Amino acid sequence: MKIDVILGLQWGDEGKGKIVDVFTPRYDIIARFQGGPNAGHTLEFGGQKHVLHTIPSGIFHKSTKNIIGNGVIIDPYIFSKEVEKLLEAKVDVKDNLLVSNKSHLILPIHRLLDAVYEKAKGKEKIGSTLKGIGPCYTDKVSRIGLRVGDLLQKGFKDKYMALRDKHLAVIAAYGFDLEAFKIDNMSFETYEQAWFTSVDVLKSMPIIDSEIYINKALAEGKKVLAEGAQGSLLDVEFGSYPFVTSSNTLASGVCSGLGVSPHKIGRVFGIFKAYCTRVGSGPFPTELFDTDGKRLQDLGHEFGSTTGRARRCGWLDLPALRYAIMLNGVTDLVITKADVMDTFETIKVAKSYTVIDGKTENLYSSEFLSEELSVNYDVLEGWQTDITKLNKEQDLPEQFKAYISYVEKATRVPVSIISVGPDRTQSIIRDAAF
Ligand code: GDP
Ligand code: IMO
Ligand code: MG
Repeated sequence: MKIDVILGLQWGDEGKGKIVDVFTPRYDIIARFQGGPNAGHTLEFGGQKHVLHTIPSGIFHKSTKNIIGNGVIIDPYIFSKEVEKLLEAKVDVKDNLLVSNKSHLILPIHRLLDAVYEKAKGKEKIGSTLKGIGPCYTDKVSRIGLRVGDLLQKGFKDKYMALRDKHLAVIAAYGFDLEAFKIDNMSFETYEQAWFTSVDVLKSMPIIDSEIYINKALAEGKKVLAEGAQGSLLDVEFGSYPFVTSSNTLASGVCSGLGVSPHKIGRVFGIFKAYCTRVGSGPFPTELFDTDGKRLQDLGHEFGSTTGRARRCGWLDLPALRYAIMLNGVTDLVITKADVMDTFETIKVAKSYTVIDGKTENLYSSEFLSEELSVNYDVLEGWQTDITKLNKEQDLPEQFKAYISYVEKATRVPVSIISVGPDRTQSIIRDAAF
């Protein structure tokens, strides 16, 4: 058996949570492979909305196991809040959640460091979610981080204090008034206490060698789906560095983030919004500053699931999409949020860029600086029909079908799933693809 992958092809928030939830009944295991609680994955069903940050989006299906893989970083405080929220929704994660002993821990000091580094950057700030992502992954590759497995060892507190004090010494050099930095509205000390209380919730989960669990499951013929976080253009290697996150968001991250061989990667489902959004700083070639941008933001409720910040909006960017498809080896496309443009008379799509020296480029490169490129658009006819209640491919308006064919032709990848609304039921799975 091979492991299938669902990941985002843009700058995050493409609808990964929703699509993973829709796919879960087809799989035995859902495994997150990277990122941390900078993610906000939204699921909607039965009139209820749920936002997950660390826990995989298959958690609402009792018969499917959910794994937080070694590539994921966990903040015990945020994790325990998530567990609590799920309990309120009558989901006891103990039934079907497993955690890798190799996942790194986001410590309170990582969140403080994140805030201090961002403040020090001033106007150049990344627009981080301030969840401690960069500093935690930094400690991981510096080989000084603490992992979930360490929680079970004697002397954890001593190791924690040593690392905290080392970082506090670095922070002191910035000369900021630390009292001014709040973590989830708490002082550092209060947050630290809450963090330690939450550690017990994490420790009470089954803590396993998830790489062995997953490889055994594949050998036994079980179906496994890897869930990505963030988006391909936020990847630390190939995203618009330094305006990226600190993990490998691409399909290749599945190998290191779950411990599976590249030979075992199966289908790669790449999700894209019918337009683009981006939260935080960094280049965005098709960004709109006009009424169309405002319409996309309002109609698409484009406000972050994790931080509540307004998302920047723009037209679909084919050079960027082709780049993400190339990097991930996408076998199937999933389109989401086209319904947001239901009332648009015309829809623009970026087909190429004109870069320095007047050269036309069909493929994005983070080397093209926004100021030096101009975007060439195709204008497509809008469908001006409410598609949110349609659940059969043949019922879709002709202009929308033409729009999908246009994207398929431009990317040479089939669109296998069409999402027409936030709810689980608002999904059209094309028969030909399965
Ligand atoms: P993720 O981070 O990729 O899981 O995406 P988010 O949950 O952060 O953001 C996607 C938002 O769009 C959520 O509020 C979803 O409920 C919503 N959503 C997902 N698919 C669709 C869709 O096809 N149409 C509409 N209108 N909303 C959608
Ligand atoms: P999901 O999984 C959208 C962005 C931040 C910032 C940059 C670095 O919900 O799609 P970080 O907190 O990692 O230091 O922030 O990356 N970012 C996201 N944007 N969706 C996400 O996750 C994101 N996770 C991080 O806004 O620009
Ligand atoms: Mg999100």
